[in-house]
Amino acid sequence: MIRAWARRVEAEHLAWNVATVAPYVPPGARVLDVGSWDCKLGAALRDRGARVTCVDVVDKNRTDVELRLMRGATLPVTGDERFDVVQFLYVLHHAADDLALLREARRVVADDGRVLVAEDRVETWGERWLTIAFHLWLLAFTFMGWKGTFKRQSAWRARFAQAGLTVERTVELGRSRRLFPKNVLYVLAPATPPGSPETLAPPG
Ligand SMILES: C[S@@+](CC[C@H](N)C(=O)[O-])C[C@H]1O[C@@H](n2cnc3c(N)ncnc32)[C@H](O)[C@@H]1O
Repeated sequence: MIRAWARRVEAEHLAWNVATVAPYVPPGARVLDVGSWDCKLGAALRDRGARVTCVDVVDKNRTDVELRLMRGATLPVTGDERFDVVQFLYVLHHAADDLALLREARRVVADDGRVLVAEDRVETWGERWLTIAFHLWLLAFTFMGWKGTFKRQSAWRARFAQAGLTVERTVELGRSRRLFPKNVLYVLAPATPPGSPETLAPPG
């Protein structure tokens, strides 16, 4: 019973993530999925025609998609390898040094590529409380703690600018399930030169 429920939540989460990123991942796109967990999102994108590489600090890969393990904050991408999409879905608040990861994303994203960041909303105290409660629940079920911080949108924007990434679009995703935190997607483009002030394009 609990297993069936967990499987349903997992399937809904995967569908939610696919719907979140699919508009930014055209067939043939080179995708780096950082914090990929079981790589099922990577496999779903691969099945839609993308060329996906997964990256994580742990090996929970349950697919045949390539997984590169990383230690510290350096992405396992060397030489002139570049990606059309570098994505962090609900990952940055887990990392001790989110700025270092964002700078790494800036390094490995193609000049005309995009960095996708999905995070939980903490604009109000109610949202912050819900996000923390959700993560305590996650910790109990998956032993996945968090080393970073949940940030308001203004703080994330400042972080992106520090990493040389411009906010092209902010998408309010709403919540995937009742009682889950609301989610936000940031679509980021490399700024030229890195660190230049962000320019906020209207959604649409
Ligand atoms: C909440 S899960 C999100 C998984 C997946 N992106 C999703 O949306 O279903 C957070 C993931 O980030 C990974 N992670 C934690 N710290 C990380 C770090 N410093 N660098 C890269 N990945 C990290 C965890 O191992 C885990 O796979």
